[in-house]
Order: sequence, then structure tokens, then C-alpha cells
Amino acid sequence: MSLYNSSSVPSALIVSIVNNKGGVGKTTSTGILAQLLAYLGKKILIVDMDPQCNLSMMFDCFDRESPEIIRGLSAPNTLNIADLFKYRYRTAEEMHAVIRHTKIHNIDIIPASKRHDNTVVDILLRQTGNNNIILKRALSVIRSEYDYIIIDNAPAKDVLAVNSLFASDQVYIPVRLENFSYEGLRETLDSIIFIKEEHDIDSLNFGGAFITHSETNTISYRSAAENYAETLGNKFFRTSIRKDIKISEIEKCFRPILEYCPNTNAVFDYSNLLLEMKILDEHSESILRRSISA
Ligand SMILES: Nc1ncnc2c1ncn2[C@@H]1O[C@H](COP(=O)(O)OP(=O)(O)O)[C@@H](O)[C@H]1O
Ligand SMILES: [Mg+2]
Repeated sequence: MSLYNSSSVPSALIVSIVNNKGGVGKTTSTGILAQLLAYLGKKILIVDMDPQCNLSMMFDCFDRESPEIIRGLSAPNTLNIADLFKYRYRTAEEMHAVIRHTKIHNIDIIPASKRHDNTVVDILLRQTGNNNIILKRALSVIRSEYDYIIIDNAPAKDVLAVNSLFASDQVYIPVRLENFSYEGLRETLDSIIFIKEEHDIDSLNFGGAFITHSETNTISYRSAAENYAETLGNKFFRTSIRKDIKISEIEKCFRPILEYCPNTNAVFDYSNLLLEMKILDEHSESILRRSISA
């Protein structure tokens, strides 16, 4: 669903995928949801906010920079999210220079690099202006060019996470049942509520949480899922993403999932999740329903 601003210019729905814990499926969810939306003919921008650069690697857009460049001792050839924050991009021209086309039709990316490790310090060194809305302001100048912008976040609650929430309309939390995941979810929800209240972000909605790496036929999964459903009510998605070995295969050496393994569980589960999220228009929804029931 595209949102329409007051001048009726179509404008992307901006979505953040967050969890204060790593390894829960943020990057995977961003990458696969983007590919499904692109398959439905939507124009997608994905934003890699994590200096680990996994999303950029997944889409084959990762630049291995020299240690001198990473330490800021010589100039980089290519631009990425670190430059957007460092130089506070705010024009369409600057944004077009940092956005790259990926090999997948309809998906563009703002990649990350190891230099992005320095971004929080770069932001804090320049105390002038509002440090929380750098990303929001930058995305606003190219927002009308996309149907969806999906931001993949690092597992942190720093100024970058605040930027991501400020820029977004919806936030989704993937969770994993292992490793104190309930505490992870609680902590992440608390920090979203804190950031929303502390910074008066009215525009942000919590879309909901979903379980990844699930083993749906186990008793522990069923009882955990019941607990989540009780606590979160309609903010807990009934669709979970099952454990699927194909996911690590496509991530190791970049392969588009819909070409490599279109019938795998991950495609089916993320398609159902997209339907449950209710962010599609009717036409796209019926295409997706037809293709997963085929
Ligand atoms: N549903 C799944 N089934 C199996 N492996 C998965 C699944 N989702 C993610 N993974 C794997 O789990 C690891 C962590 O996922 P990732 O998306 O990178 O988490 P995060 O971005 O939250 O750190 C990756 O190696 C990824 O390939
Ligand atoms: Mg990640």
C-alpha cells in the first residue's frame, strides 16, 4: 500500500525491521520481503544500517575497503550509508549518488560498509542540528520514487536506531524462540516505546512481532507461540517463518530466492506473513495468494 501525501504524490511506506538482539532474522526478513515485493512489481529501496554489512553482502553490493579508507585517511571511491550520515545528505542528487541498483529488478539499496562503524562518533562530533532526523530527511527527498523502503537495523539502541524509527511508518520485530528471546522482545518493545515517547514520534506504528527459525511441530514452539499471542494480542503474527536450510544457502553466495528455490518453505512463509501484515494493495494481494496456492 502506498501512502499519499497532501499533494497526492505517491510515497513509499517506510518500514523498520528491528530487534536489539542479533541472529534473529532481521537481515533475512528484509532481504526476502524485499524480493517478494519486487516480484509483485513494487519498487523497493532497502537500507543497510548495520556495519556488519550482511544485507549489502546478501545483494552483492559490499565494498571491501582498505584499512586507510576505513580509518578516514584516504577517500573512498564509492558512497554508502556512512557518507549519508557523515555529510547529512538532503538533496535528491546526493541520494541518487548513494543509491545503487541491485541485480534484482526493482530493488535498489543504500549499502553499508565497515566505515559505518564510525558513524555514531561522526554524528556525535557534529553537535549542530537534529541528530535524530538525518535519515528521515534524506529519505524524504527520494521517497516518492519507491513503493516501499525497508530499513535493516543493527542490534543496538543507539542514535542510528533512533534515526531508523524516526524515518519509519511501521516497525516489525522478528524474534527467535531460543536464547532468551522473550527478554529480547520485551527489551526491544520497551526501547521502541521509550524512543517514541522521549522523541515525540507520533507517526510510528508497531506493526507486530513474528517468530523466525520456527519448528512448528514441537511442543515448546506451540506453548511459546501461545504465550506470545496472549501477551501481544493482534500484534503477534500467527504466521511464523520455519527453519529453512535454503536461507543460508542463498545468503552465502548471493542468489535471488525466487529463481534459486521458488518453492521453498521460506518463500511460502514470508508470502503468508506479507498477507498477514496487510500492507499490500488488493491487486498484489490476489497475485500473491494465487502464486502460493498454485
Ligand atoms: N528461517 C530461517 N531458517 C534457517 N536459517 C535462518 C532463518 N532465518 C535466518 N536464518 C539464518 O540465521 C542467521 C541469522 O539471520 P540474520 O537474518 O542474519 O539475523 P539478524 O539480521 O537478526 O542478525 C543467518 O545465518 C541466516 O542465514
Ligand atoms: Mg543483520
